[in-house]
Amino acid sequence: MKYFFANWKMYHTHQESIDLIDEVSKLEVTADVTAAYFPNDLALEYAVNKLGGEHVGTQDVSWASEGANTGEISAHVYKEIGVNYALVGHSEQRHKFGETNQEVRKKLEACLASNLMPILCVGETKQEQEAGNTHEVLSEQISSALQDINLNNTELFIAYEPVWAIGTGTPCSADQAREVIRWIRQEVATYGITTVHVLYGGSVNSDNMLSYFSSDNIDGLLVGKASSNINTLNQMLIALNN
Ligand code: PGA
Repeated sequence: MKYFFANWKMYHTHQESIDLIDEVSKLEVTADVTAAYFPNDLALEYAVNKLGGEHVGTQDVSWASEGANTGEISAHVYKEIGVNYALVGHSEQRHKFGETNQEVRKKLEACLASNLMPILCVGETKQEQEAGNTHEVLSEQISSALQDINLNNTELFIAYEPVWAIGTGTPCSADQAREVIRWIRQEVATYGITTVHVLYGGSVNSDNMLSYFSSDNIDGLLVGKASSNINTLNQMLIALNN
């Protein structure tokens, strides 16, 4: 099974989200690919009803579980409305909104406690890559997230999304992604976790997607911009079907 996850970020108005979900509900996805869509929170319930909760994820989740936490939404509430997945530690949360490795860990634990399937996003910045620190940065992100974690039999997804490749039109080559993902699998195994789905994300589009998808080592894709428009999304799903 391969995975195609569409992260719609903050690209749409509410009506645009609803319209896109309606369009997506008409698309065909090949049986050996699991597709899931990550609209903004206000469209989640509509997406669950239209697409089925197993095809829907939230872009973020609170680490708090309940109570006096103004503005936050708990993993439990996402689960309650039928959402299946949650992105955790997306680089835009880490780098634009100051999310720390410690918060990412707490969000991961919150998901696991509520049976929301987390997708742990990791990736290095350009500066870190140029300084030769990719492994060090990823290692820190992975260890703080996974050390002594109880996965509660939940499947774990990791998305390798180099920050320098996200939204830049400069993707990480499939060879490079394969190499880092091979290393991520080894690293994750040191925490006793052997079943993990590792995805690639960062400037994936209909032209380059098959170079990642055709690799045994890459379990799927997390796609942002190119998945947020029905035409480009459709092109990608057609490419998968062939
Ligand atoms: P992008 O975003 O495909 O627009 O580069 C990917 C992501 O942030 O998940």
